[in-house]
Amino acid sequence: MILDRKNMTNTAELATRIKTMDDGSFNKFDSSSVTEFVDLMQIYEGAMYEIGTKLEILDNEFQVRFSHNPIHHMERRLKSSNSIIEKLHRKDLPISVESIKDNLFDVAGIRVICNYRDDVYAVSRYLSEQSDIQVLRVKDYIRNPKQNGYRSLHVIYAVPVFLTSGPHYTPVEVQFRTIAMDYWASLEHQLRYKSDLPDSQLAQHSQTLLDCARSLQNVEVQMQSIHRDISGAPQEEED
Ligand code: GTP
Ligand code: MG
Repeated sequence: MILDRKNMTNTAELATRIKTMDDGSFNKFDSSSVTEFVDLMQIYEGAMYEIGTKLEILDNEFQVRFSHNPIHHMERRLKSSNSIIEKLHRKDLPISVESIKDNLFDVAGIRVICNYRDDVYAVSRYLSEQSDIQVLRVKDYIRNPKQNGYRSLHVIYAVPVFLTSGPHYTPVEVQFRTIAMDYWASLEHQLRYKSDLPDSQLAQHSQTLLDCARSLQNVEVQMQSIHRDISGAPQEEED
């Protein structure tokens, strides 16, 4: 199952937004760039679909070979034009189509929610080994969790999107995680971005979340071990 988090690019809204941002640097993003921008988003969307299809094919093959679906579900989204502009602005980067291409690697994003940790590493490995795509960057927050307890495997792929002008290698950020990791990350995200709690309470909740991350990890290890004994799916090496 793929959940599409639709984010339609509306050129009129985008043009208005650019005009209302009171900064000289935005002047470069004129109406012809808006067309170029919409074209670029089309390519990111194609790249996102290419990777999504590859993942579905892998999941189906696992089902046929091992009677096991490694992927519980996927979510995919294109970064909204507002978020793109805000991110470039925040990072003090030029606001232009070239700058998006050169600096942003998460315009197209897919979250792959797997059943077990073995599935995360198996699916990401089989995808990374495919000869038509390249791995641009890997951040393994499962082997090296973030201080707040966040765990996920982030891989940026470059995938060819074939247009009339030929192949355009386009980055897609893929976040592989288990159901438990996703469950944890959703609440942590809510706490970080949506809460206006007093600092002391925030600190207390953050500590509790860190404890939860450790507990979830323990539960996962135990459940993974049972699953290994009863399923024929490939086991991934531990380190
Ligand atoms: P930015 O894209 O500029 O943030 O930097 P980056 O690409 O180096 O970031 P990274 O790969 O570490 O994380 C990218 C994405 O992972 C974020 O947009 C989130 O979706 C997710 N993420 C990273 N860290 C956390 C975290 O601590 N909590 C949660 N809930 N999500 C996180
Ligand atoms: Mg990022």
